[in-house]
Amino acid sequence: HELQLSLEQIEKNGYDHFMLKEIHEQPEAIKDTYRGRLRINEGIIKMAGIEDNLEKILKANRIIIVACGTSWHAGLVAEYIFEDLVRIPVEVEYASEFRYRNPVITSNDVVIAISQSGETADTLAAIKLAKQNGAFVFGVCNVVGSSIARESHAGAYTHAGPEIGVASTKAFTTQITVLTLIALKLAQSKGMLSKTEFQQYLAEMEAIPAKVEKCLKIDDHVKYISSIYKDSPNFLYLGRGYNFPVALEGALKLKEISYIHAEGYPAAEMKHGPIALIDEQMPVVVIATKKGHYEKVVSNIQEIKSRKGKIIGIVTEGDEEVRSMADFVIEVPETLEGLTPLLTTIPLQLLSYHIAVMRGCNVDQPRNLAKSVTVE
Ligand code: G6P
Repeated sequence: HELQLSLEQIEKNGYDHFMLKEIHEQPEAIKDTYRGRLRINEGIIKMAGIEDNLEKILKANRIIIVACGTSWHAGLVAEYIFEDLVRIPVEVEYASEFRYRNPVITSNDVVIAISQSGETADTLAAIKLAKQNGAFVFGVCNVVGSSIARESHAGAYTHAGPEIGVASTKAFTTQITVLTLIALKLAQSKGMLSKTEFQQYLAEMEAIPAKVEKCLKIDDHVKYISSIYKDSPNFLYLGRGYNFPVALEGALKLKEISYIHAEGYPAAEMKHGPIALIDEQMPVVVIATKKGHYEKVVSNIQEIKSRKGKIIGIVTEGDEEVRSMADFVIEVPETLEGLTPLLTTIPLQLLSYHIAVMRGCNVDQPRNLAKSVTVE
């Protein structure tokens, strides 16, 4: 037992928990994900799994993304970027619902399965069903040689390295990275982006790891905010557009490891329900980066404020407007709107981590949860 403990300590590489180590590994993990694929000098993205099946994918009537948990959230981010850049309709489905509802699947559909482990039972069953109905199945997995990777017709690995913490962190950001690369490659092949726009995306993507690094540097500030709100029984997370799925993921992280009830919502849907919950006890994490419907999110923040809710704003560096209204702001560097989820996710991971640690929770192995759900 002692030997095992010390091995574990070695594996944690000086960090208190695997989750914290994996959060900090993200700059490198994202680089590993785009290494060899993102070729700025040649002005291309190299991905064999896409190239070999380009026509089939570009001709698809629609793309159906199937996944569970955090991977499902990555799928939602992908929906925004695929529809925006590639102009192919996308549906994102919980694998467990998709497989049992007698879905309409044809040979003109492309199904993308997203799974860190590549072993999630529902996702695996969903792709088997899709294959039976003639769809082309593309896997986005982290674990090489996993069941979903083997069952797929083609795929792209995330190359995030092993993820040990039950709460998914680097798997999520690397899934978004791979899916963004795929969207960009398809958009370029379809002639949807000018050369300049494409090059700008590549350059901004290459700059993401350094910007993630910057997000990690403000950890002490996030820790301080965590100490203020750690005893709140509820949290609300709001975001819009590309950052709506990030709000869902932020809320999921908090629930999973700190056992605080948290809900993620599209900011504008707040008025259709959650606003009733807001009082001076309620911390609301609002993702309000510049560009992504900023002014609209600002007016949501005003609505929260007039009901005395506590506001933690995730904002673009140099933001003044939200800062003047929020109780706290956490800044992230500026990037293209479509890439902001890769940055706004980071402070939310840190927030949930610190709150869970302060509440004495078992961060790496939260109660009732499994890293990989291989049974229904
Ligand atoms: C479990 C894990 C989550 C994960 C989900 C899907 O619930 O605890 O972190 O997001 O399964 O797993 P997958 O391996 O398919 O991404």
